[in-house]
Amino acid sequence: MKVLLLGSGGREHAIAWKIAQSSILDELFIAPGNAGTKKHGKNIDISVTDFEGIKNFVLQQHIDMVVVGPEEPLVLGIYDFFVNDPQLKNVAVIGPSQEGAQLEGSKDFAKAFMTRHNIPTAKYGTFNADTVADGLRFLDNMKGPYVLKADGLAAGKGVLILEDLDEAKKELQEMLLEEKFGKASAKVVIEQFLDGIELSVFAITDGESFKLLPEAKDYKRIGEGDTGLNTGGMGAISPVPFADAAFMDKVLNRVVIPTIKGLKQEKITYNGFVFFGLINVKGDPYVIEYNCRMGDPETEVVMPRLKSDILDLFEGVATHTLSERDIQFHDKTAATVMMVAGGYPGTYEKGKTIYGLNSITDSIVFHAGTLADGPSVLSNGGRVLAVTSYGKNLQSALERSYDSISKITFEDANYRKDIGKDVLEY
Ligand code: AMP
Ligand code: GLY
Repeated sequence: MKVLLLGSGGREHAIAWKIAQSSILDELFIAPGNAGTKKHGKNIDISVTDFEGIKNFVLQQHIDMVVVGPEEPLVLGIYDFFVNDPQLKNVAVIGPSQEGAQLEGSKDFAKAFMTRHNIPTAKYGTFNADTVADGLRFLDNMKGPYVLKADGLAAGKGVLILEDLDEAKKELQEMLLEEKFGKASAKVVIEQFLDGIELSVFAITDGESFKLLPEAKDYKRIGEGDTGLNTGGMGAISPVPFADAAFMDKVLNRVVIPTIKGLKQEKITYNGFVFFGLINVKGDPYVIEYNCRMGDPETEVVMPRLKSDILDLFEGVATHTLSERDIQFHDKTAATVMMVAGGYPGTYEKGKTIYGLNSITDSIVFHAGTLADGPSVLSNGGRVLAVTSYGKNLQSALERSYDSISKITFEDANYRKDIGKDVLEY
């Protein structure tokens, strides 16, 4: 099989690493990829949203399957672009239709979907510029903290959690009337605040059946003890100690099965990953968000725990025979710690030479934001490297990752020293 993988982050490096191990792979291309994906295939300089460029490459190289890493091309309708093009319609696309991608692309769509299918989630209201007054009244009738969410994609920045009612009202008006998040905040979802511990659950589906992947927990804030600004993710672990059989049974029956059934019932084409961002409130799962792709950095622990051939699963998705495929996991813990550029998630510099990568033997170093420069590897983003390790338990996996990190250097590198600590005692 000839495969084109779209994306350039740690998630895509982890997926490329896994695809490269497949017994049915002939050739792997990554567009645009990074200095890490280059080791597993050929990087192609095409942007993930350049559909015409992707089309030309797919036709020229006789690509059999396109695996879509990030949400943007999915929300822009890459699946539909392929299906509706006579020359491309036989190329498999791993990712949902544009309608399915609305689970991530529109918070309002996702909330309405959950309501229709009785999937547990925070109570909410949706407002637009014409209904600001209703939104303000809605806030008046709530208890804080106040959760405001821009409806559309806002690069992970569109969620505000505010303690103060007046501040919440001011933000709501800025979002709706002053386009605080551009078009993404033309609609705003106001939600009840849920207090609990978060985790990420992943399924892959062919629209009929699904397989659960290993669950993971990511660490979103820049600072230790989960403080400071939100980031794309500073580390992740899998399995999640508090996600025991009883909890996962609730997740399966209350969230995953109703979601897959709901998509099918509503005839929403969905051939790809579903990411359930969940919160455990006193033992009960609630959906905080859906994403239409894998998580990052969760993928950097999920792929290492997947034992089965991922292309076999993808082929099952593409041919609607997923139920016949086998999925197995490694019975080990995986932990990843993200090395980021100094200053991130604020302003930071790129182009720092990374030293020590070749000395790492006990971890898998997934590149998140890197660029090859001859034999050198340069930082090329806020999140630079995801250092993943296996262990017989969480403690030993974390020790390995931190030991490897001590051997990798680049100017102003930063990382959180407390990944996994909050759940070590479980
Ligand atoms: P989202 O983009 O919807 O995942 O929201 C970003 C983050 O905000 C989540 O990962 C949670 O930490 C937090 N969050 C979102 N919605 C809620 C909620 N209803 N209650 C508490 N925290 C929330
Ligand atoms: N790690 C959270 C996400 O990928 O959205």
